[in-house]
Amino acid sequence: METRGFATFAPGDGGVAPLGVTVRPATDLDIPGILDINARAGRPANTAGSLALAIEDPGRLVVVANASGGMAGWAKTHYWDHPDAAAPSGHYLGGVTVLPEDRRRGVATALTDARLDWIWQRSDAAWYVVNVDNLPSIALHRRWGFSEAARAPQFHTTQFTGGVGLLMKAERAAACLPHRNGPEGEHG
Ligand SMILES: CC(C)(COP(=O)(O)OP(=O)(O)OC[C@H]1O[C@@H](n2cnc3c(N)ncnc32)[C@H](O)[C@@H]1OP(=O)(O)O)[C@@H](O)C(=O)NCCC(=O)NCCS
Repeated sequence: METRGFATFAPGDGGVAPLGVTVRPATDLDIPGILDINARAGRPANTAGSLALAIEDPGRLVVVANASGGMAGWAKTHYWDHPDAAAPSGHYLGGVTVLPEDRRRGVATALTDARLDWIWQRSDAAWYVVNVDNLPSIALHRRWGFSEAARAPQFHTTQFTGGVGLLMKAERAAACLPHRNGPEGEHG
């Protein structure tokens, strides 16, 4: 089950100086920090065990972002090896979570750039699923050309609080055009 903890949608409310963000693959030593970010963001969906499995799986990528001296966010990919109704097999973005005090400073953009660079080395398509009410997440992913491919109450194992989720798709060719929200790589 997907959990809430969405940011407040505030279009055009950026404008805070971008943080200097460093993104790197996660190790098991990062698991307590990831769980702490989830707890502070109100998104306690992952367990230490599920994170450890994702970190050790060469078919998935778990990344953490460091900014202002500490861990500011994390994210992962998931590979589905089978389709589920409208949701195909393939590489899915997931889990992106940024500490509330570090938001709107390019952390999720850096985490998503890193994961998409990794996916484009393996596939021409990238997917993610999102609650229809999570407008900040939908706005975040727009710069890579993600658009709605389907909507349903469940995709694979994710059920959506409130009942409707979107399956979003981006293609490598479109995502590698200059970013829609600004110059390429502009995230600090
Ligand atoms: C969604 C989330 C990951 C964004 O993280 P972030 O580090 O603040 O995102 P960025 O600073 O990289 O934002 C990049 C762009 O995304 C859009 N965006 C991000 N947050 C937004 C918000 N609250 N309202 C409107 N647009 C938003 C904006 O276009 C923003 O550019 P701008 O700041 O120049 O306007 C963060 O709010 C979060 O952790 N939310 C809770 C977890 C969650 O919902 N994850 C997604 C699950 S699918």
